[in-house]
Amino acid sequence: MLRGSKVGLRARHETDIPILQAELYDDVVTHSRAQGRPWRPITPGSKDSPLLVDDKEQGHVPFSVVELDGGTLVGTAVLWGIDNHNRSAHIGLGLLPSARGKGYGTDVVAVLCHYGFVVRGLQRLQIETLSDNAAMLRSAERNGFVREGVLRSSAWVMGEFLDEVLLGLLVQDWKPDSKG
Ligand SMILES: CC(C)(COP(=O)(O)OP(=O)(O)OC[C@H]1O[C@@H](n2cnc3c(N)ncnc32)[C@H](O)[C@@H]1OP(=O)(O)O)[C@@H](O)C(=O)NCCC(=O)NCCS
Repeated sequence: MLRGSKVGLRARHETDIPILQAELYDDVVTHSRAQGRPWRPITPGSKDSPLLVDDKEQGHVPFSVVELDGGTLVGTAVLWGIDNHNRSAHIGLGLLPSARGKGYGTDVVAVLCHYGFVVRGLQRLQIETLSDNAAMLRSAERNGFVREGVLRSSAWVMGEFLDEVLLGLLVQDWKPDSKG
């Protein structure tokens, strides 16, 4: 398990899936805002659930997020689009509603940076998020990500086009222990 100051990132367990499906995936608005693709219902136990992990998929590394104190499941995190030639990847995360606003998101981003830069030897990490997602923007910026651009009307979300912000962090600008 990878450890931050408040949360740990571990493998997806089978018992995580119904909780993540009910509390995160089936929230249509949150899914539509975070995933960049249309929500559709997933049959419980489906072998095609996007929450199931394919351990053979090299470019996509999903984690379950747990509280360090007690091990309660609080969300998902992912390093995706891993490009070993350009040494870059994207990060994403989603916390259960009861786990938001407690500093966990900022900690998850810190742990994903450690995984990307230290464990995987990457040089650049990137996040795309809706321009009104204040908590995601702040979680990224607290870890040193900088806004590199606005993708105007790039996301179709529940009946309207919204802007996304692209944020990037280079390994040489990463300060592992300071969240400023
Ligand atoms: C986005 C998300 C991961 C952020 O994690 P979080 O644990 O809620 O965020 P934190 O508690 O670490 O807060 C980070 C900062 O944002 C601020 N913040 C938190 N919630 C906020 C809100 N609703 N509005 C404005 N600011 C907020 C915090 O005060 C904190 O700022 P500070 O460090 O200056 O005090 C989480 O809210 C979530 O899972 N949301 C739903 C899914 C989602 O949007 N995923 C991202 C898709 S790209």
